[in-house]
Amino acid sequence: MTAATDALDRLTAVVPDFPTPGILFRDLTPVFADAAALRAVIDELIAPFAGSFDVIAGVEARGFVLAAAAAVLADTGVVMIRKAGKLPRPTVSRHYSLEYGTATLELHSDELPPGARVLLVDDVLATGGTLEASLGLLDDAGLVAAGVSVVLELTELNGRPRIGGVPFATLQQV
Ligand code: PRP
Repeated sequence: MTAATDALDRLTAVVPDFPTPGILFRDLTPVFADAAALRAVIDELIAPFAGSFDVIAGVEARGFVLAAAAAVLADTGVVMIRKAGKLPRPTVSRHYSLEYGTATLELHSDELPPGARVLLVDDVLATGGTLEASLGLLDDAGLVAAGVSVVLELTELNGRPRIGGVPFATLQQV
């Protein structure tokens, strides 16, 4: 057990029937709200990728919290992968499937110099649709995916294959 996994075990709130009946939602907001827990999670989120990335990208919305904190700690910039229609300048765009329906993620196409190495972070890997689309956006923008790092992997949903061959790390699996 590490400091981060100990904090996750103690502080993650498991909420039945959210957002819909039958779903057991793992809420990380109490982890984010605790200074020592947040620090431990951020430390361990980026440690496997030390020296391999130039910038950190986060996926709206919970990924933003992790990405910004990690970028300050790693002394890099941060870029935002946003839901459709939020970014003001030209974007690359990817559609992806949700359990019901589809969604679109976008990234400013000129945010970073081509070839920049990007560490992609998010709170949860579930079906993998979000991170697969995000990796597609990095590719479309001419960027290199240095790795994908998440706090929690929901293994039953088998999202890992959708990350492909990009180096992957997770702090916890359930
Ligand atoms: C959640 C979570 C991940 C994604 C994982 O975000 O924060 O980004 O779902 O699911 P997947 O692996 O099945 O794609 P959500 O879309 O709920 O957005 P939010 O953070 O804005 O609530």
